[in-house]
Amino acid sequence: MNVSRIASVPGDGVGREVVAEATRVLNRVSSRKGLGFQVTEWDLGADRYLREGVSITEEEFSTLASDYDAILLGALGDPRVEDNRHARDILLGLRFRLDLYVNHRPCHLLDRSLSPLRGGPGSGFRLDIFRENTEGVYANLGGRLRAGTQDEVAVQEDVNTRRGVERIVRAAFTFARERGRGRVTMVDKANAMPHVGGLWRQVFRELGDEFPEMETDVMYVDAMAMDLVRRPERYQVLVTSNLFGDILSDLAAVLTGGLGLAPSANVHPGRHALFEPVHGSAPDIAGTGTANPMAAIRSVALLFEHLGHPEAAREVEEAVRAAIAQGVATPDLGGGASTREVGAWIEERLSEDRE
Ligand code: NAD
Ligand code: IPM
Ligand code: MN
Repeated sequence: MNVSRIASVPGDGVGREVVAEATRVLNRVSSRKGLGFQVTEWDLGADRYLREGVSITEEEFSTLASDYDAILLGALGDPRVEDNRHARDILLGLRFRLDLYVNHRPCHLLDRSLSPLRGGPGSGFRLDIFRENTEGVYANLGGRLRAGTQDEVAVQEDVNTRRGVERIVRAAFTFARERGRGRVTMVDKANAMPHVGGLWRQVFRELGDEFPEMETDVMYVDAMAMDLVRRPERYQVLVTSNLFGDILSDLAAVLTGGLGLAPSANVHPGRHALFEPVHGSAPDIAGTGTANPMAAIRSVALLFEHLGHPEAAREVEEAVRAAIAQGVATPDLGGGASTREVGAWIEERLSEDRE
């Protein structure tokens, strides 16, 4: 049997709590279906950084790149670490070093009761955000001049390469075509940032010609933020830059019930993949046992799908839906269950033979 090797990086705060549940779910589905997954836990995060002064080594990057089929990550970020440099080293380090240029963040309303919008969107919605994941202002090009003086200057450049824009726009169109979605929307701020916006619009137009069956439109990010609240059902696939994708994905997540439900995939197609909830380490609730593990568990569904097990992915999604329908939920969804109880319920559901 082919063994799929998974590196789990629980990280910090609630990341550790939700990855524990997600890993149980992964192992349960793998053993029930005989998929042969093998999970190895990695100790990367604030504790290690504070203990050893090391966030992640060159050798660890290489091993994570060469020895694993996928990475399952919780979250990184800890108030004890000044400016969270360990989190940037590890999380952005992995995204950049493994060149995980596609950040796919599905925002699907699983149940209308989860919508915070008055009346709820009539028809529900399925939105898939494709966020460029290796460039933009995250490239960290810039610096601070005359630091600490009244004349200080801080510069953070927005780096957009034709190659980088093309590959994420192509990924969004390809996804839309494969999933039978009719419309791709590109989001930018070309009115204030015409250089970057110009490149994105040109690439979007050119690639759009290769997907003639697809409706396309372009939106400014401020109007997009507004319209996502006003009529989210109007949108299907969004493609945008690193920063705008980060911001819009938190907004879209809350429209589907909150960060506790939002999964994500960071992928370089054909090479490497990392799956993680969209949320962070949530220091405000870490240690209380109340974090919602569903975003991490749904990230396992994305992982299964990516590694060629769509049936396992569907089962995990179905089990999460069933938990919500039964009211088995953490406080963020209005329930009274703990992280462990929600995880255990979903794991139990996945142990049953439902065929
Ligand atoms: P956050 O996502 O950690 O939390 C935002 C809010 O959502 C908080 O009120 C939190 O309690 C709530 N929340 C988050 N996850 C939840 C869950 N599973 N269940 C219930 N409620 C949940 O964002 P933040 O507070 O801005 O950031 C905290 C730290 O996490 C920072 O250091 C930040 O840089 C880091 N961060 C890391 C990642 C990542 O590793 N991918 C993502 C986002 C933020
Ligand atoms: C996310 C997070 C990260 C990002 C932070 C922790 C650097 O907010 O994964 O959404 O901005 O990409
Ligand atoms: Mn974010």
